Amino acid sequence: MKIVTILGARPQFIKAAPVCHALKQNGCEEILVHTGQHYDANMSEIFFRELSIPAPSVNLNVGSGGHGKQTGEMLAKIEEILLTHKPDKVLVYGDTNSTLAGALAACKLGIPIAHVEAGLRSFNRSMPEEHNRVLTDHCSDLLFCPTQTAVNHLAFEGIRNGVHLVGDTMFDAVLSFRELARSRSDAMKKFGLKPKNFYLATIHRPYNTDDPVALESAMKALGSLGHQVLFPVHPRTRPKLQSLSLASNIQLCDPLGYLDMLLLQEEARVVLTDSGGVQKESFFLKTPCVTLRTETEWVETVQAGWNIVTGVDSSAIQKAVEQFERNPPLTPPDYFGSGDAAARIVRILA
Ligand code: UD1
Ligand code: UDP
Repeated sequence: MKIVTILGARPQFIKAAPVCHALKQNGCEEILVHTGQHYDANMSEIFFRELSIPAPSVNLNVGSGGHGKQTGEMLAKIEEILLTHKPDKVLVYGDTNSTLAGALAACKLGIPIAHVEAGLRSFNRSMPEEHNRVLTDHCSDLLFCPTQTAVNHLAFEGIRNGVHLVGDTMFDAVLSFRELARSRSDAMKKFGLKPKNFYLATIHRPYNTDDPVALESAMKALGSLGHQVLFPVHPRTRPKLQSLSLASNIQLCDPLGYLDMLLLQEEARVVLTDSGGVQKESFFLKTPCVTLRTETEWVETVQAGWNIVTGVDSSAIQKAVEQFERNPPLTPPDYFGSGDAAARIVRILA
């Protein structure tokens, strides 16, 4: 079986790593195509190294740009690759512009599409990710869902064929790399942190970064917390922070590698984020999470009591953190599978 996999953005490298390894173990031929959506070494190359993902066969070097230009350039270039390699299937992950471009290119050529992390919905149509997910799901042939909620969303939209509940490949990755992170990462020492004595924050959603009022409100809340806040800054967010004066407990740093992030998420008192992947990982690592959005796709983490959705309202954020510190949540259920999502995906693909 020959598979072309389309990757391009940071979370996709992490989602794909367990599947790449399982495909290799099963003797499948996988051609990795990197769209170049993320290109800084600490947004791309570091993940290939840390998670032992083979180097991409080709990098399309599309880079940054408006949604139409970026997605359109990827579409044209992926089509050429698919015509050359004639794969049996095209594998896409998550909900970025790289996901949609890969799915559309394959769809137009009649090549079956497998979508990992299918069925997620925020029901917020102002998010580019929501368009990408809905469109990708509706042209996919195999839909690998991480949760029952995702299966239900697809059924509601009339998609029942080819749907498989397999669990979450990010959970597989956490189980595989948690020990390595504990033994290899020196992030605690590097940033002068003590276990459970700091908060970890990330912000990169355009509705938070590109709205100065929203960003200021979120940063004010972080500044009011009683301990140090380590904030690895996404390249989208960096220029937007420059005009703000930040409280002295906020420590900015460059984007981190996966192993550092795993260790810091495990050791933090509370994680504060608008990232999808970070919400899940903090749940897997049993650290409470405050979500700086008005809704989440990962509703199970909220139902289990490990995630509070606050938006960027400063007092709501403070209250959520206090609530976690007063009443720590109970042991979370296994909503995201048993850590064998990648093996299941490869069995179904094969
Ligand atoms: C993208 C995804 C988002 C995902 C996020 C993960 C889309 C529409 N959005 O958002 O779903 O959560 O990746 O991190 O696909 N930049 C750099 N260096 C890089 C990459 C980006 O400097 O290596 C800067 C550029 O100024 C660029 C901006 O970051 O314009 C945004 O990058 P882009 O890939 O367009 O969107 P993200 O916000 O990263
Ligand atoms: N991540 C990382 N370094 C960072 C921030 C995030 O390795 O500085 C990892 C994080 O652990 C998770 C993934 O990147 O595995 C989440 O990606 P991101 O927040 O960029 O996108 P989203 O999940 O919101 O699409």
